[in-house]
Amino acid sequence: MDIVVKGLEQTYLSGGRPLKVLHAVDLEIEAEAFVAIVGPSGSGKTTLLGLLAGLDRPSAGSVRIGDVDLGALTEDERARFRAENVGFVFQTFHLIPTLTALENVRVPLELAGGMDAAAIRARAEALLDRVGLAGRAHHYPAQLSGGEQQRVAIARAFANRPRILFADEPTGNLDAETGQRIVDLLVELNREARTTLVLVTHDRDLAARARRVVRLAGGRIVEDVRRDGDPA
Ligand SMILES: Nc1ncnc2c1ncn2[C@@H]1O[C@H](COP(=O)(O)OP(=O)(O)O)[C@@H](O)[C@H]1O
Ligand SMILES: [Mg+2]
Repeated sequence: MDIVVKGLEQTYLSGGRPLKVLHAVDLEIEAEAFVAIVGPSGSGKTTLLGLLAGLDRPSAGSVRIGDVDLGALTEDERARFRAENVGFVFQTFHLIPTLTALENVRVPLELAGGMDAAAIRARAEALLDRVGLAGRAHHYPAQLSGGEQQRVAIARAFANRPRILFADEPTGNLDAETGQRIVDLLVELNREARTTLVLVTHDRDLAARARRVVRLAGGRIVEDVRRDGDPA
């Protein structure tokens, strides 16, 4: 699915005063793209990602994903749209601490409905196997390393075969080598499942692996470069 953003603005209230953190952002991301969003801390990367994924509503402007204008949906419709089309991976993993790895991956499958318990179990096990964690299915998050927790989170994000995967600094809490492996996995899954991948990262090496790098500064896009060297 492609994403088309027009005139996107976000204003937060900060100490009672409006603080505009995104300024009229226009952006088009084609289906199956692999885009890295980079920029200094506070430049609006997380805010932009949340709006693209339909987690939040903008103050102004529009986000269209495929044929769907997110602004035309109610809160419930957006939640359903996300469940069916979007995966999200966070810097801090966001696993449910009281559930095992396998149970964490089962959650979105159970919420989606339409699969019986045996099919859910089989799919969750296949996903954990795909991320190299078949042997950790019954571990709780606290019993897993950071890299393992992030792999569980990736398996969970891919559970419902999302058309688009958003990842907000998915390697930010990992050492460099583990981070490389996490990005290898995202890139492989992006190719295999033909998912659109939109990744926020601080890491220049990781950003360099994307086919396109969009740089934010002060809530504006200040650079947009394709890997083949052509400006977007
Ligand atoms: N919920 C919020 N309320 C008020 N200000 C916010 C909120 N979320 C983010 N901000 C502010 O918006 C700016 C952009 O934040 P963010 O999108 O998280 O940037 P980045 O991910 O690039 O570090 C920052 O100045 C931040 O303090
Ligand atoms: Mg951020």
